[in-house]
Amino acid sequence: MKDSFGRSITYLRLSVTELCDLRCRYCMPEEGVCKLRHDQLLSEEEMLRAVGAAAALGITKVRVTGGEPLTKPNILSICRGVAATPGILETGVTTNGLRLPELAAPLREAGVSRVNISLDTLNPEKYAYMTRRGELSQALAGIEAALRAGFDRVKINAVLIGGFNDDEIPALANLTRRWPVDVRFIELMPMAGNREFGPQSYIPVSRVLGALPEAVPQAEDGVARLYRLPGALGCVGLISPVSQHFCASCNRIRLTADGKLKPCLHSAEEISIKGLDEEGMREKMRQAIEGKPRCHDALSAESRSHAARTMNQIGG
Ligand code: GTP
Ligand code: 5AD
Ligand code: SF4
Repeated sequence: MKDSFGRSITYLRLSVTELCDLRCRYCMPEEGVCKLRHDQLLSEEEMLRAVGAAAALGITKVRVTGGEPLTKPNILSICRGVAATPGILETGVTTNGLRLPELAAPLREAGVSRVNISLDTLNPEKYAYMTRRGELSQALAGIEAALRAGFDRVKINAVLIGGFNDDEIPALANLTRRWPVDVRFIELMPMAGNREFGPQSYIPVSRVLGALPEAVPQAEDGVARLYRLPGALGCVGLISPVSQHFCASCNRIRLTADGKLKPCLHSAEEISIKGLDEEGMREKMRQAIEGKPRCHDALSAESRSHAARTMNQIGG
């Protein structure tokens, strides 16, 4: 279905949980994550009903997000149901990778065709610091497990943070020489919950090109502009939600784990579909797509996202 600005909305980001086994400093608070009651969450049946309603409106791609989706006990069953929904041609998962050693092969068998994995640093101490509890070796094992399971176009997401990992651009980009993966550098988005990141943390992705003079431009891929290092197996991608937003070509809507449709990542508008039948969900989705804003305000350390949630409550 087209929105009121002529954009075809074909991509649903489905967050299946707000919970996560990490606590990345730019994403969620360390303490006080208020666990939603079971009856506030969408049930698996409701999620699949919502995906059916979305498919009826022309959604062809679903990306399962979180929190950390692989902490959800019924994740395989959810993914199987999403991938089997008539009209859904691509099912992806965005994960921190920690549980991929056990789950990569079963996810593939469940019909998931794509995995994107978050990895902001190759230094174990820095990884433990930014995630507040993670072990780098586990995330790297997750990437290797995804490749072993035969996923195609595995992508690594690195949030670029001034003073944290801006000295690691070549090292992270070099992963595209070691593995057949795309490494995408993402500008840190200033959300209501990550005010401790001041202006010096916001590094434009143009800095990546400065650090990789040998990178050769390639095509665009979704929200990423791609480059390739000579001889590399995968691409380096730049995702620039802050310095150069991509609202004009936005093709997505979001559904949170508690059943709120978000027409735009950075707007506070939310439409509840919890408890509705498929027809009711379809009507709300139509309303969300029709009401999708043209654009959000420019983001900066001083002008933060209007989203009323932390990133783990949205799903990125
Ligand atoms: P594929 O194209 O399917 O590989 O995935 P993707 O890039 O759409 O999804 P992924 O979950 O890997 O997200 C990559 C980054 O882009 C994350 O930091 C997201 O928060 C960010 N992102 C995804 N969609 C949007 C969007 O609509 N607006 C903005 N500003 N950022 C987005
Ligand atoms: N800005 C940019 N990217 C973010 N992510 C989480 N929070 C932010 C933020 N504030 C990324 C994660 C993951 C993806 C879904 O979103 O690192 O790769
Ligand atoms: Fe968890 Fe991903 Fe947020 Fe890190 S960025 S706390 S891994 S949901």
